[in-house]
Amino acid sequence: MITKQQVVQAHLPATLTPRDEAEAFAPSNIALCKYWGKRDAELNLPINASLSVSLAHLGTRTRLVHATDGRDRVWLNGAEQAADSAFSQKLLAFVDLFRAGHALPVHVHTQNNIPTAAGLASSASGFAALTLALNEWLNLELAPAVLSAFARMGSGSACRSLFEGFVQWEDGIRDDGMDSHGVRLEASWPELRIGLVKVATGEKAVDSRAGMKRTIETAHLYQSWPLQAAADLTRLHQAIGEKDFALLGQTAEQNALSMHATMIASWPPLLYWTPDSVAAMQQVWQLREQGLALYFTMDAGPNLKLLFEAGDQAQVEQAFAGLEVVAPFSA
Ligand code: DP6
Repeated sequence: MITKQQVVQAHLPATLTPRDEAEAFAPSNIALCKYWGKRDAELNLPINASLSVSLAHLGTRTRLVHATDGRDRVWLNGAEQAADSAFSQKLLAFVDLFRAGHALPVHVHTQNNIPTAAGLASSASGFAALTLALNEWLNLELAPAVLSAFARMGSGSACRSLFEGFVQWEDGIRDDGMDSHGVRLEASWPELRIGLVKVATGEKAVDSRAGMKRTIETAHLYQSWPLQAAADLTRLHQAIGEKDFALLGQTAEQNALSMHATMIASWPPLLYWTPDSVAAMQQVWQLREQGLALYFTMDAGPNLKLLFEAGDQAQVEQAFAGLEVVAPFSA
């Protein structure tokens, strides 16, 4: 088995020359065709390719400061995190891949501007920003595709957050995973809007990592997932190429519900929805029946992400009070 450490090591210079400090930003992203299932859990290599849209200014800003007090410390949104907290440990374990045994103590300042109320995952933008900041801090000058492959080893979906706009995460075939990274699509869709519906916040009982493992191990239905994902990717490319919003929305919604179907068919069953999630889905379906071009997608949690176009924004905001709207392709 190839380890993360081996993969990173192969791209590091013989001597590291850290700057005093470095800073980077990465956007959060929402998958229109989901990543669900790994073929390699050490490197986070996916069973299927996926496609997302990045959320422009919503994401994570990470600053790394070469520590003069000689110890690693971690801050999240201004609050110092305990050294033994899961957050600090995961983050510093990732930094260790790059320090490769060298004594380089660091202070990590992580700032998320993703509205916590929207219940959006921040691990994707978090590992992407951390990877970019490490590249700066240690003067690595690595190519975006390499950095994307590294970010993937922190959290799979993070490899898509290295880029703006529509991003495809290639599944790849190499054992070291260096061909499994994000690739930005040329296309732009200025009218596209994403609405973040707050259903519930707080820690989820089963995170994506454990959820996809359980699904693969226990749900027979999962066998159809790679085929569904491949077909949906083709449809999404067509929708983006032809700017066919109905095709984009339908494909994204059906893809998300297909993923959730495999989770529900797991054992013990994995249902991330609350009654409020279902009520919001029904509201979307009702509005669509009335002629509104409105669709949704969902990840491993109870919140809905609405998909619509700029011309319908007022109507969608009226139907969903407190909606946070993102324009992914705004300048
Ligand atoms: C449902 O990227 O959080 O949001 O690789 O184990 O860190 P790990 O999982 P993660 O999974 C995201 C799953 C998803 C779908 C998606 O974003 O593609």
